[in-house]
Formats: sequence, structure tokens, C-alpha cells
Amino acid sequence: MGVKLLLDKANVPGIRTYEVYRREGGYRAVEKALKEMTTDAIVEEVKKSGLRGRGGAGFPTGMKWSFIAKPDGVPRHLVCNADESEPGTFKDRYLMEFLPHLLIEGLIVSSYALGSNDTYIYIRGEYAWITDILEQAIEEAKAAGWLGKNILGTGFDCNIHVQRGGGAYICGEETALIESLEGKRGNPRIKPPFPAIQGLWMRPTVVNNVETLAAVVPIINMGGEEYAKIGVGKSTGTKLISACGNINKPGVYEIDMTITVEEFIYSDEYCGGMKDGKKLKACIPGGSSVPILPANLLLTTAKGEPRYMNYESLSDGGFATGSMLGSGGFIVLDEDQCIVKNTYTLARFYRHESCGQCSPCREGTGWMEKILQKIETGKGEMSDIDLLWDIQRKIEGNTICPLGDAASWPVAAAIRHFRDEFEWHVKNPELAQTSNFGLQHYADPIHVPA
Ligand SMILES: Cc1cc2nc3c(=O)[nH]c(=O)nc-3n(C[C@H](O)[C@H](O)[C@H](O)COP(=O)(O)O)c2cc1C
Ligand code: SF4
Repeated sequence: MGVKLLLDKANVPGIRTYEVYRREGGYRAVEKALKEMTTDAIVEEVKKSGLRGRGGAGFPTGMKWSFIAKPDGVPRHLVCNADESEPGTFKDRYLMEFLPHLLIEGLIVSSYALGSNDTYIYIRGEYAWITDILEQAIEEAKAAGWLGKNILGTGFDCNIHVQRGGGAYICGEETALIESLEGKRGNPRIKPPFPAIQGLWMRPTVVNNVETLAAVVPIINMGGEEYAKIGVGKSTGTKLISACGNINKPGVYEIDMTITVEEFIYSDEYCGGMKDGKKLKACIPGGSSVPILPANLLLTTAKGEPRYMNYESLSDGGFATGSMLGSGGFIVLDEDQCIVKNTYTLARFYRHESCGQCSPCREGTGWMEKILQKIETGKGEMSDIDLLWDIQRKIEGNTICPLGDAASWPVAAAIRHFRDEFEWHVKNPELAQTSNFGLQHYADPIHVPA
């Protein structure tokens, strides 16, 4: 069994309640941080831990915290990003649903370190039942003296407010989130200024993912150096992976980032192998935005080395032969799945979610969707594949926020690794429209490792 730092108590009956969470050692990190540590010492500990943001980009958390501006008399804010709308990603939901006090504890310690007296959880609107769970946990923590005024007699005041999201994927982008939290339409802001300087109500703000903030609890309890010993390289600590698709055991798993992708997919401790004994065809390893990898490049790098479930290994080879750990949304596709259909589905999603502020994203996502629909329904021409490639190239890097990149990467990777499948659709228009296309085509094991 791998190391568990976040989900170790997830199966304790009643752990959702304050009483049981406290009995199991909960809120020790708050006691330690507020009574024994300075705010700078907490930031230092988080830096030493090597913790990287679990929201997708993997930016070092301690460094982000140290950027927050501290102008005299201006309130600062911590915002917890619980919007979780990336297809394939459902780890924060699990954490909040079953261990709400772990998040509250991480939020109190982090709020103290950053000097946030009013901290916000911006939660995906559809997670209505989890909003109730969090609000109940906040009430319990307040009643026990962990929130409110003068916590533990330290003079530190902290309130946590839960805000349900506006129902759009773009509201997970940190500046769109801030706009939405301010009551406006969730349109991303142009950066700079970065939130650490001018964020919520133009005050210095740190936005962190749910899992990132929960990880602060074990870091404070065990110390940053000990935390950094778990994992490998710059992939320290543990990572939650939400696994779905054609596997035997979809679910949320905590891994210590030293296991191979092969072990993650095939061992009984994690995904339990491919469903119905089918062959592995491809995988989107870090949420829908990251490049899809064919099975051979997923299990081994282009150098022929085993691929591991961590930041460095999954991105080995760049986008030419690698992908990203991203948010940890691990989507597994078997031999029956059609890459063109899959890419079309994702393109529809990104077109729908584009906020429309910048032309390359607003127009480009729509064009990509239309061309993919054409190819998928057997009306495509060979030149459409090059056109699709050209459009995605013109979106990437030319937009206000990374949603444009997120929309272009899946299309680029699908063409890069599965161009033959796109061509097959063009050459076989009648078959392209049949629902069992994948089955017929992937009798040819071209993308399946020996
Ligand atoms: C379109 C889009 C959607 C995003 N959705 C989320 C989300 O649901 N949750 C999240 O934590 N980060 C999301 N992010 C990343 C955030 O902008 C931000 O980088 C993250 O919350 C920072 O937290 P971290 O440093 O703890 O990872 C999204 C980014 C983009 C561009
Ligand atoms: S990239 Fe897309 S989602 Fe982001 S600001 Fe531009 S139009 Fe909006």
C-alpha cells in the first residue's frame, strides 16, 4: 500500500463530523501553526515541502504565497478554488464530500500564513450537496473555536465563506473566478496585474486548489522536509488521481508519485486493469485539456523508459511524445474508442465554455468543432485535417487565458498521434458514421504496445 497523507482517514466511520475528525487527530496542524509558528515560518515550511499546486499548472505553492503583496491597511484574501469543472477531474469533490474538516483545517492554517481574515471557497455550482456539507463543517469548526474571532487566543480572526459557482468551466480560471466571486460575469482578466497584487476587490489574493490547501495539513504536522521525502524529484508528497473510462475500478486514488503508469492502470490497488480484458488504446492522463497519449507512449517514454505517475515523467518528451499530470483526471480509452469522436466531444465542450472575449478562442473553438463534426460524420476532406492543425496552432498562446491552449492541445495531440484515424474517417465515410467504428478499425493494433 502506498503512502496516504490525505485520504488515510477517509474510511473512518463518521469522519465527516467534527467530533470524529478531532478524535482522529484533526486540527493539530492549526494548534501547531497558530501557537508555535510565525506566518513566515509556515510559508517557509510549505516551500521546503516542494508542494506544487494541484489545480493543474503545478506552480510551487510556497513561492506563490511569498508573492502576495502586503500593503499597510489593505486586507488580503485566500480563495479556495473548488470549481472543479475539467472533464475527468473529480478528486476535489471526493475530498470535500468525505473529509470537509481536512479542507477547513488547511484553510485556517493557510489563511493565518497569508493574513486572510475572510477566506472564500468558490465551489462548482452543481456541487450543491457538498456546499451543505462544507457549511455544516464550518459551523462545527466555529462552535469549537477554530474559526471566528481571536482563534486560540492568538488575536487572529478568520471566517470562511462558501460561494456557489456560476456554472461555467471558465469560472475555474483564477481571475474569472475572482470576477464571479465579485458578482460579475466570469470573464478572465488580463494579467498582469496578478491576483497576488490585485485580486479579489483589487486586494492581494492567493487562489489555490482544494487539494493543495488540504495538503498543507500533513506538511505542517510532519514538517516540510519529511513531506518532501515522499515522492520523487519535484513531484513531492502525494497526489489525488481521479481515474475513469474503460477500467475495472474507476475512482479517486491517492498515489505517492513513484509508481509507474502501468502499475496504476493494471494493479488491483488502483484501476484494476482494463474493463472486459480489452486492450489499452490511449489515455488522457491529466484532465481533458492535456495531450492524449497512445498506449505505447503512455506506458513508456520515447526513450523506452517506464513512464511514472508524476509531473516530470508524464511530461517527458514535451508535447511531441509526452503529456502532463495536470489536475490528475486520468481518462482511459480502450481499443473500441474512436479518437475522432472523442476529440469532437472535447471540442464541443471547449467551444461551449469559451467566454468569447478573444477572437482566436471564440472563433477558433467553433471552427474546430465544425470541422471535427464534418470528419466524424463522414463528410470530411483530407485538407480538413491540415486546416484543423492550422487552427489549433493559431489559438495556442494567443489568448487572454489558458482556455484557448486547453482547447487546442487535445486537437493537436489527437492529430499528432492518431492522424491515420482521421484519414481513415475521410476515406471511409460510410463506416465513419457507424457507432462500432472503433471496433472495426482497431482490429488493427497499430497503437497497442506489444
Ligand atoms: C479554464 C480553466 C479552468 C480551471 N479550472 C480550475 C478548477 O476547476 N480548479 C482549480 O483548482 N484550478 C483550475 N484552474 C487553474 C486556476 O486558474 C489556478 O491556476 C489554480 O486554482 C491555482 O491553484 P493551485 O496553485 O493550488 O494549483 C483552471 C484554469 C483554467 C484556464
Ligand atoms: S481564451 Fe477563451 S475563455 Fe479565455 S479569455 Fe479568451 S475567449 Fe475567454
